[in-house]
Amino acid sequence: MITNRQTGTNIHEIADGIYRINTPIDLPGGQAFSFNQYLLIDDQPLLFHTGGRFLFPAVSEAIAGVMPLERLRYVSFSHTESDECGSLNQFLAAAPEAVPLCGQVAAMVSIGDLADRPPRALADGEALALGKHTVRWFDTPHVPHGWDAGLLMDTTTGTLFCGDLFTQPGHGNRALTQDDILGPSEAFRQPMDYFAHAPQTAATLHRFAQMKPQTLACMHGSAWQGDGGTLLRHLGEAVTSR
Ligand SMILES: [Fe+2]
Ligand SMILES: [Fe+2]
Repeated sequence: MITNRQTGTNIHEIADGIYRINTPIDLPGGQAFSFNQYLLIDDQPLLFHTGGRFLFPAVSEAIAGVMPLERLRYVSFSHTESDECGSLNQFLAAAPEAVPLCGQVAAMVSIGDLADRPPRALADGEALALGKHTVRWFDTPHVPHGWDAGLLMDTTTGTLFCGDLFTQPGHGNRALTQDDILGPSEAFRQPMDYFAHAPQTAATLHRFAQMKPQTLACMHGSAWQGDGGTLLRHLGEAVTSR
């Protein structure tokens, strides 16, 4: 469903109760890119990634197409960066019961100060019940980048909110694909490497591989469905074989 003809913003359900909001972007130089946010609708709805401040009107309009915006309870993201949490305070203002949901490092070094309401900080491995769905937070310091980084896994549907992992160029027109995303994302990463290449990178990716996610909710490009364990192992090999 296209929710804004001007921006091309669209929303599609990619797993039970999980909606991908996608806005295609044309970068200077003619390169196509996209920003995605994920809305998990449950008793306590959660948004993962907010998009930058400029995207707030389009993203909030897309949410309002499937759920009253003021029902939002958690605004979560991987690390402190504009596309991750740029419009956090705009969402906190629009949804009076919403709080930021992040890792303990993000809460300590940034979000406790930047956000207009105190965050709920999750420890590594901590679970949070949202209703039918339960999510777990995992610290991923410096993977792919940012000391405060972490990722969220919906253990109910096997969906890994994998943030910048598997970033693909293009508009991400397909909400959910089973095609290869590792090849395009590696071709995109290599000239503009956004991985910090910390010593624990392979171990961090392997930890997620062992959880065998079935859906990878990428921030840039299409979400992906398939054998996530194998794909994450291959990403670990690609990133560490330089
Ligand atoms: Fe990032
Ligand atoms: Fe990103």
